[in-house]
Amino acid sequence: MKIGCPTEIKPQEFRVGMTPDAVREAVAHGHEVIIQAGAGNGAGFQDEDYRAAGATLLGTAEEIFAAADMIVKVKEPQAGERKMLREGQLLFTYLHLAPDPEQTKDLMESGCTAIAYETVTDAHGGLPLLAPMSEVAGRLAPQVGAWTLQKANGGRGVLMGGVPGVAPAKVVVIGGGVVGTHAAKIAAGMGADVTVLDRSLSRLKYLDDVFGGTFKNQYSTAGATAELVREADMVIGAVLIPGAAAPKLVSRAQLSEMKPGAALVDVAIDQGGCFETSRATTHADPIYEVDGIMHYCVANMPGAVARTSTQALGNATLPFLLNLADKGWKQACEDDPHLLNGLNVHAGQLTYYAVGKALGIDVISPALALKS
Ligand SMILES: NC(=O)c1ccc[n+]([C@@H]2O[C@H](COP(=O)([O-])OP(=O)(O)OC[C@H]3O[C@@H](n4cnc5c(N)ncnc54)[C@H](O)[C@@H]3O)[C@@H](O)[C@H]2O)c1
Repeated sequence: MKIGCPTEIKPQEFRVGMTPDAVREAVAHGHEVIIQAGAGNGAGFQDEDYRAAGATLLGTAEEIFAAADMIVKVKEPQAGERKMLREGQLLFTYLHLAPDPEQTKDLMESGCTAIAYETVTDAHGGLPLLAPMSEVAGRLAPQVGAWTLQKANGGRGVLMGGVPGVAPAKVVVIGGGVVGTHAAKIAAGMGADVTVLDRSLSRLKYLDDVFGGTFKNQYSTAGATAELVREADMVIGAVLIPGAAAPKLVSRAQLSEMKPGAALVDVAIDQGGCFETSRATTHADPIYEVDGIMHYCVANMPGAVARTSTQALGNATLPFLLNLADKGWKQACEDDPHLLNGLNVHAGQLTYYAVGKALGIDVISPALALKS
């Protein structure tokens, strides 16, 4: 198969769909890989790295889209890229179609087959191509929160680990899923005094069994949250209710009870945020203050560490990418129902129920698409 990987063109996106290592593996499987010149620059991969791995480099996205059987990307195709997709071409990338009727319409009109990273599943009920970015955002949260806490940035001037004779920062993590667990691990590793709140008893049991000696956990109620938030130097928002906007768990009124200069890091901002005063920010201007409390609400946190994020995403996508290339999408999806769950669009029709429901578009079952 001819696999094409163009440069990402969405603003502030520095990741790339394939690492040189992924190229090397695909080439070893007998595939041809074409990479747009400069595509890896933002993630620290040079054109020579790709050439050495066996890729052919082409100058423009037009050439990549025209030549490739499968396009591998990170972000959803932008309007200009969508015009270049064609019937029968396979697209493997994040799509997030439910809130995006224009993209959905364009993908359907292109006649391409689109498999979305975010809806591929695994045997444990997880989302294996979404999890790596949650791991990155979770591990980054205490790092950016610690920076926000510094005096020059408007913060309280508290050091995460304290020093001998001085208490460490108190960190509260709301939501103990993928983001929350990784955030708590890193915050505890920095020496902070960490408590994780979650509403899932099974999750709390897991956290207690595995991390009981590293950080505390508590059942999430409005009362427990209010009490912990009052005492906190940093609160990390990491809740998710699948398919719904994030619940608002800290109100504006509560800010006045918090320690002045405390930091709120709302990782759940991509779902609307879990603090009433959260609004999405960018890496260029990540923090702002409300009622004396510093907020960090960047919606694409993994972009700050594009190299690590590219490698983490690449590790997760590679086995699926190789299967798609080796077998063709139909056989690969027939053999793996979890990959089939990633199918969102095929030959002008929508194949993902939740997207159809959100956008009021008729859907055919993925199994039917396989037979077409
Ligand atoms: N800003 C970014 O760059 C970025 C990057 C990755 C993920 N995210 C977002 O981070 C959020 C968390 O993602 P995740 O992968 O950890 O999800 P997850 O499903 O693994 O974990 C969410 C946790 O929240 C818990 N929860 C739900 N309601 C709660 C409540 N009221 N109180 C306490 N806990 C509650 C759930 O029980 C679950 O354990 C999502 O909104 C995700 O989209 C943002």
